[in-house]
Amino acid sequence: MCGIVGYIGLKDAYPIVIKGLKRLEYRGYDSAGIALFDGNNLEVTKTKGKVADLERVALEKNSKKGSIGIGHTRWATHGVPNDVNSHPHYSNSENLVIIHNGIIENYEPLKKELVARGYEFKSDTDTEVLINLIEDVQINEKVSLEKSVQIALNQTIGAYAIAVFDKRQEDELIVARLGSPLAIGVGENEFFIASDASPFIEYTSDAIYLEDGEMAKISLNEGVVVSKIKDGVAVDPYIQKLKINLEQIEKGGFDHFMLKEIYEQPHAITDTYRGRLLANEGVIKMAGIDDNIDKFLNAKRIIIVACGTSWHAGLVAEYIFEEFSRIPVEVEYASEFRYRNPIINKDDILIAISQSGETADTMAAIKLAKQRGAFVFGVCNVVGSSISRESHAGAYTHAGPEIGVASTKAFTTQITVLALMALRIAKQKGSIANSQYHYLLHEMEQIPSKVEKVLEQNDTIEKVAEAYKDSDNCLYLGRGFNFPVALEGALKLKEISYIHAEGYPAAEMKHGPIALIDEQMPVVVIATKKGHYEKVVSNIQEIKSRKGKVIGVVTEGDITVKELADHVIEVPETLEPFTPLLTTIPLQLLSYHIAVKLGKNVDQPRNLAKSVTVE
Ligand code: AGP
Repeated sequence: MCGIVGYIGLKDAYPIVIKGLKRLEYRGYDSAGIALFDGNNLEVTKTKGKVADLERVALEKNSKKGSIGIGHTRWATHGVPNDVNSHPHYSNSENLVIIHNGIIENYEPLKKELVARGYEFKSDTDTEVLINLIEDVQINEKVSLEKSVQIALNQTIGAYAIAVFDKRQEDELIVARLGSPLAIGVGENEFFIASDASPFIEYTSDAIYLEDGEMAKISLNEGVVVSKIKDGVAVDPYIQKLKINLEQIEKGGFDHFMLKEIYEQPHAITDTYRGRLLANEGVIKMAGIDDNIDKFLNAKRIIIVACGTSWHAGLVAEYIFEEFSRIPVEVEYASEFRYRNPIINKDDILIAISQSGETADTMAAIKLAKQRGAFVFGVCNVVGSSISRESHAGAYTHAGPEIGVASTKAFTTQITVLALMALRIAKQKGSIANSQYHYLLHEMEQIPSKVEKVLEQNDTIEKVAEAYKDSDNCLYLGRGFNFPVALEGALKLKEISYIHAEGYPAAEMKHGPIALIDEQMPVVVIATKKGHYEKVVSNIQEIKSRKGKVIGVVTEGDITVKELADHVIEVPETLEPFTPLLTTIPLQLLSYHIAVKLGKNVDQPRNLAKSVTVE
């Protein structure tokens, strides 16, 4: 998720674009850049680092002139964060520049064709391919910039919000969107473009939100001319009057980043499997696995190291890997693993899971494993982070920046990546039946819409939160693939509401915890129809017979648990290995609403940091 900003008008573009980029840094902040046109010169300034670093470089270069400008703050997906990979990108002729938020999935074949036609590339990005594709169309078809963009975009597969400028057509900006947001601010003799309205809300409250598959030519002479990317058919733009403030815009209209990120999960999961999951072809493409598949086929053991929520994702991965890839898996707290002198063999594979890619204990565990000859595979959310660079290979989650300290979309996108890895390896090993493999691939594509359905339970969950917000303790129970979800749900409640909570395998109740049960003890039980359902129902009966309060997370249409439990929250049916992607959502929302009702600082809970870079 990156931030794009643009200005075309009569004022100096530089201060407007820079201030706008700072407003969008919550969308990505590993590198930044700006292109300015002053009527003669088109100048690009860009750098690794934050917008403040860009300002310093622009000051040194003394490049701030121009009344047309486009700027970008990056969250890397292709190509590590560095000066060359940051946006804007020139075309080969340096007549065109582009900024882009999104992923062009078929950039590699497009790049091969352009290289064959003599185009040269400075960066590793998909974006530089797109701007040269546009230039190639412009040269060969001899059409306008607007038409060139339209033709080029029809050759791409993926998601984008782009702004393109040609220094020879100096009074127009071309923008387009598919799968990534793009807003146009309509001012007096000036126009703004941005990923959301925060960069221009102080200048105008009149905004046009392009729909997916739409593009626009923006010029001082003609204003905003909107059309369909597919066929160029004109679209009547709808100018709406914005009635929201800056803070609400940054949080996407949500009260907290955590809630915004909970609701981003359908999009984040889609972005994470985009370009990797080709269900109709029965193919999973993951370069980090494909290039090292022999190591995974010959591995005697997989050791997963992580902390916190990432460790819970690792536990889910243990069940998935052993179920399908039939490779023994051990899941270790990185902080314990690094100090206990573990036995590590050369044919071990260590998978390190980390949202931030900076967790000190996880990094230390990786270094120990590398010293002892293991192959290290990183699953991170931050491109170019320390752990991703320290790993021999890896696969990124494409969750976008996770601002809330409590991890939510990181957890579900980690499970998505790990499930794809396990299925990719199982297919190669022949350890999974073809029919089951294809069934799982197609079901994975249904998960985002099923997460959407769970999110529709928000009001029900808020009512449950109201009933239990004053509890002193809470128990979370789950079995099989959902035992780690019980742990994760307990962690969510602990870390943002400060209520003590514990997660257990449901069958463990009789080995002690059941002594805790009384009418003051709410027990969240994950009781989906898959996997030992009857045994979980018995656990619920044990709790009810001791006057415990039960909140059941059940499969849609469940009647049995509904008759036993005090509250039920329904999730759609899915295949058992994917149930954690759905059952974790109610637990995220439950902890969120309880914390809000208790007046806690949901996004920055006490004593916690988003990334624990110290021991
Ligand atoms: C979870 O909500 C916490 N934010 C914390 O447990 C976190 O998962 C842990 O610190 C690991 O962070 P990482 O994924 O960035 O390595």
